[in-house]
Amino acid sequence: SEKDKRYSVVIAGGGSTFTPGFVLSLIANEDRFPLRKLKFYDNDAERQKKIGDACAIIMKERAPQIEFSYTTDPKEAFTDVDFVMGSIRVGKYHMRELDEKIPLRYGVNGQETTGPGGMAYGMRSIPAIIEIIDWMEKYSPNAWMINYSNTIAIVAEACRRLRPNAKVINICDMPVAIMTRMAHICGLNDYHDLDVNYYGLNHFGWWKEVRDKKTGKDLMPLLKKHVSENGYWIGGEYDKETEASWAETYKKAKDCYALEPETLPNTYMQYYYYPQYEVQNADPNHTRTDEIREYRQKIVFEECARIVKAGTAKGNIWEASAEHSNYIVDICHAIAYNTHEKFFANIPNNGAIANMDPDSVVEVPCWFGADGVQPMATGMAGRFQKGLMEEQQACEKLVVDAYEQHSYNKMWQAFALNKTVPDALVAKKILDDMIPENKPYWPELK
Ligand code: NAD
Ligand code: LMR
Repeated sequence: SEKDKRYSVVIAGGGSTFTPGFVLSLIANEDRFPLRKLKFYDNDAERQKKIGDACAIIMKERAPQIEFSYTTDPKEAFTDVDFVMGSIRVGKYHMRELDEKIPLRYGVNGQETTGPGGMAYGMRSIPAIIEIIDWMEKYSPNAWMINYSNTIAIVAEACRRLRPNAKVINICDMPVAIMTRMAHICGLNDYHDLDVNYYGLNHFGWWKEVRDKKTGKDLMPLLKKHVSENGYWIGGEYDKETEASWAETYKKAKDCYALEPETLPNTYMQYYYYPQYEVQNADPNHTRTDEIREYRQKIVFEECARIVKAGTAKGNIWEASAEHSNYIVDICHAIAYNTHEKFFANIPNNGAIANMDPDSVVEVPCWFGADGVQPMATGMAGRFQKGLMEEQQACEKLVVDAYEQHSYNKMWQAFALNKTVPDALVAKKILDDMIPENKPYWPELK
């Protein structure tokens, strides 16, 4: 029966730094989201093997009842699956480094999903995500893809246009990560304890209401006070492991809030409100990519090597932190069991934000169930937010235009229009440096 159903999951991007943590979360949630099969798929066999061999040991020790394998063969990967997790990074950290460092040559912000770097990354991701959707539809037509491969806003716009009927949901954990901080600030446990009204685009949004889910109490006054003084920074034990750049980001929310104190901002607004500050504070030779190479990536691959060498995963670094409530597991669970819980997704607007285009992609709370996602009506966007969103959304649409039409000018316009870029000549210089580097991934722009 449905009740006893066990699910088959494939992680596309098996070599991702997030994979082992996710595997531990899946195991920790076996009671509410039981698996029969777990597969990894990646197009880099060598990178995936390092993660896969360690995870094979974890699975053997902790969940021998689940059949585990990893592969680079699409047919093997996407046959007999219920859920596809999209966790790929096209061009890997080599290309992320260029996304960050090329704009900085010209005094423009270098960031993974923001500005020219984010648009370059989005352009690389489109064909790879479409390819995965097509394999899923071919080999497992009933499956759902939960995609969190960036640049989500651009990928979601490409899905809307190119695969409008595909069972793909584009998500991001930034709102829930901030909400877990909000919950802590209010003396609650995590994002499950909050009921919110939030609207915007991916990495570009605002909370207009935050309530205690149980009591309905309005938490905005308390949160506004905290954010006006500390941003989303908590400090102490809570932030013991927070990396330097994230510490700055959470603190900087204070300045974002100062500009628009009726709502609470997504942390990514810092790049659009204060681009000059971001550039002045950046080291053009040492960006977030370097920090990840020195920290997360190093830790993950060293730990995998240690597990393989020891032949046991006992005492591994993910065990202690394997959150019992992992956001992606929550989402799979909601779809599998038709719970209609409220999470966030990037979906065609269709009225979710009353005064935005129906055919624009927005990020809003949605009810997740067996039929996919149903967006919540969030009301009207403020004038300030609407102006910002329409500019940013036009950039995202122009990138997809550039992809579809192989148009140099559309991509140049996307860069030139972006709030992080001061003028069209700077936009052109950045684009012209990016084109040869992105040759293996982008269509040829004419
Ligand atoms: P990573 O580079 O560590 O791993 C990505 C993997 O994708 C690599 O092993 C790479 O070989 C593989 N890959 C690249 N192109 C592929 C393709 N066409 N087909 C199959 N596999 C391919 O990256 P990461 O830092 O772990 O991030 C993974 C993704 O998750 C990124 O898109 C990132 O932006 C996104 N992300 C998600 C969350 C989240 O909510 N969990 C948070 C931050 C980032
Ligand atoms: C990541 O790889 O972690 C990013 O997607 C976000 C960040 O930390 O820069």
